[in-house]
Amino acid sequence: MDIKQAYQKNIMDTYSRFPLVIVKGEGSVVFDESGKKYIDLTSGIGVNAFGYQDKEWLKAITQQAGIIQHTSNLFYTLPEARLAELLVRKTNMSKVFFSNSGAEANECAIKAARRSSLLKNGKGYHNIITLKNSFHGRTVTTLSATGQEQYHKDFFPFTEGFLYADTDNSENIKELVKNNGCAAIMIEIIQGEGGVCVLSDELIQTIKELTSKYDIPLIVDEVQTGNGRTGKFFSYMHFDLKPDIVTTAKGLGGGLPIGATLFSERFQNALSPGTHGSTFGGNPISCAGAASIIERLDDKLLLEITEKGRFIAKTLSALKSVKSVSGKGLMLGVEIEGDIKQAITGCIQNGVLVLSAKNKIRLLPPLNIGMDELNEAMNILKSSL
Ligand SMILES: Cc1ncc(COP(=O)(O)O)c(C=O)c1O
Repeated sequence: MDIKQAYQKNIMDTYSRFPLVIVKGEGSVVFDESGKKYIDLTSGIGVNAFGYQDKEWLKAITQQAGIIQHTSNLFYTLPEARLAELLVRKTNMSKVFFSNSGAEANECAIKAARRSSLLKNGKGYHNIITLKNSFHGRTVTTLSATGQEQYHKDFFPFTEGFLYADTDNSENIKELVKNNGCAAIMIEIIQGEGGVCVLSDELIQTIKELTSKYDIPLIVDEVQTGNGRTGKFFSYMHFDLKPDIVTTAKGLGGGLPIGATLFSERFQNALSPGTHGSTFGGNPISCAGAASIIERLDDKLLLEITEKGRFIAKTLSALKSVKSVSGKGLMLGVEIEGDIKQAITGCIQNGVLVLSAKNKIRLLPPLNIGMDELNEAMNILKSSL
């Protein structure tokens, strides 16, 4: 079968794909149809937390598939209970709602914030302040939450009540909160799709003060930054922040779909029976796989992630063609001289998979990538850039 042709014929044309058919993955490498090997610095956009065919994850999901693959949320299952307990323990949050994706985790957060605000303040306090250049998902409401015009233009009208604050001017968010009845402020600590941009300390401090002054919840979207990616369990832990609602997905599942919305004690009753649900949410196989990822994210591994990130940043910063390196841990954005598309094509042709984010090359390698592979990848990037 000509796979590319079959895609063209049968699959909706919504992605601009690289001309590669990936047939197999092992550790931090993948192979294409011709057997050519690529070191994967993308992890399926931050999903394959421990690379391909990770033994513990594979054992967890295959064992669980042989026990029970799905019930429904009308019953209790062990993997969901175990994963929730692990997440609550790692974060000091109080409750978790499981879903299937980042967008769905964010939808849950938005519904919970609006419901809490309605019960507390009455009508008119439904606005959610998000940031310009943010990305929160592709559903109508999470697109509405996304502060980037380019994603909006074809899909009006949207869910109302989202206001976008500047990221480079703390006064703007102060004005927005002061002048609008707000249900929440929602942020990514590092704007991944926005170009791997870390929010400034000043903006984070302002947001912290505003949520406290106006008694509104802070929602942190950890869909891309979560689960060890930045060298902390969640990226807000780099700062003195205590969010009320945290959303995550991607790396949590290690390769299977899962989303999670975590609630602080104050917001643990933000949703009640009948107000929210998801058929596949808490799926036993996804939860068993996720637990095998989460239980290994200890201080030693987080330190290794930080050190490997520093190594990549130092190596690439030394190149003449590299203007800057942003991000934290193994979530990095590399700004280069010259054409970004051409650079990415060159890297891939030379055997390293990389991503883009706005005007940068984005790197999201597996959290356990070995130093040998990292060195080899850096040598290829050095010659490709
Ligand atoms: C910060 C952030 N939020 C939400 C999403 C949406 O996640 P999903 O594609 O799983 O719905 C993404 C996806 O890239 C993301 O990076």
